[in-house]
Amino acid sequence: MKKLWGGAFSESTADLVDRFGQSIKTDLQFWQEDVIGSVAHARMLGETGIISKEEAQILIDGLEKIHEAGPEALEIDVEDVHTAIEYRLRELVGDVAGKLHTARSRNDQVATAARLMLHNELLIVLDQIKDFQRVILAQAIEHKSALMPGYTHQQHAQPITLGFHLMAHFWALQRHGHRAEELFGLANYSPLGAAALAGTSFPIDRHMTSAELGFTAPIPNALDATSDRSFIMDALHVCALIMIDLSRVSQELVLWSGREFGFVKLHDSVTTGSSIMPQKRNPDMAELIRGRTGRVIANWVTLATVMKGLPIGYNRDTQEDKPPLFDSLRKVKDSLKLVQLMLETCEWQLDVMAKSTHGDFSTATDIADYLAANGMPFREAHEVVGKVVIGCNERGIVLEDLNAAILAEIDADIPVGVLSVIQPVDSVNSTS
Ligand code: ARG
Repeated sequence: MKKLWGGAFSESTADLVDRFGQSIKTDLQFWQEDVIGSVAHARMLGETGIISKEEAQILIDGLEKIHEAGPEALEIDVEDVHTAIEYRLRELVGDVAGKLHTARSRNDQVATAARLMLHNELLIVLDQIKDFQRVILAQAIEHKSALMPGYTHQQHAQPITLGFHLMAHFWALQRHGHRAEELFGLANYSPLGAAALAGTSFPIDRHMTSAELGFTAPIPNALDATSDRSFIMDALHVCALIMIDLSRVSQELVLWSGREFGFVKLHDSVTTGSSIMPQKRNPDMAELIRGRTGRVIANWVTLATVMKGLPIGYNRDTQEDKPPLFDSLRKVKDSLKLVQLMLETCEWQLDVMAKSTHGDFSTATDIADYLAANGMPFREAHEVVGKVVIGCNERGIVLEDLNAAILAEIDADIPVGVLSVIQPVDSVNSTS
């Protein structure tokens, strides 16, 4: 295995040590960010006179060639992506490649590439969130008057509309967007120039690299810059929160597409069949999202567990930050797309939903509100409506069947005006 170190070693490392320490496969997911970080570093070395301008240009040209050729041209029998890129650079430009690592360590390099990668990924996630919100908003507008039962304790509670229900998911996504933006701002500081842990004696210009890479400013403390991974934990936490909400939407789709609810039909393109039961149409994607949420939550716990025992300064343990990060981001991006697709293509069974609000006594609160609005203390109104419910049960009728005569039979004092609020549609229309 090709290495960037070894001068002080008389024996080569054991094969198992090489394999155990290798991160190249994971690292290839942020090879571009590593190249971009190196270009900024090389330019700064030239501008500050640490290396000559000509040498800097040779390095930049070589790095650009690597960028154009893509990751397939990189050697993978190496420890990590930093080694692969430097190795390739040496093949392209010769020994001057060795100057790229002046005033830099893989410790600040990897932290820089990870922050750049996270920025790019957050922008993708933010775009996806907005796309998804557009779909929800359009459906919410279309179904703003479509009646459905609103639930608490998974029991019919009060009538609502499908539009109102969908907008609850819209606002959850809005918060995720805010979280992602906050995280973007918090993480947008440059570790480059912190070197291994203590900065460098070379007259580097950290502001120059920070600005070229689009960071707000350099991280002031070199030790902090190389050992902080809280931005990745933040990202894993945001990913977990997004997945938790997508899992809840998925759970609704699983339930609602079942026969007992029948509120929605999922499209063929997002469902799967059974190998034995020909009639089946399974909501596998929703189930997998629900299931994979467990892994995304675990990814946050994984890195938090890695970090909690680490002394300040770079520790190799932090190499374990990237597999969970890449895994969570991949799952979040796929799941956002899939839930969007399931909602975009589904057929809401509006009649079934509306019918389901009838006969469920879910306008009882409206009657109590009516009485309270007309002067009765709410607690008393609650009791009175309780009696009305019993009265209906005794007669085998539901609230919508009430008329003036039955009402008077149940309780002569109840004003007949309550009949104006017993229909589910009146309930949703009366809500401010
Ligand atoms: N693969 C390493 C990581 O992800 C790169 C930094 C290695 N630094 C070192 N001092 N061994 O953390």
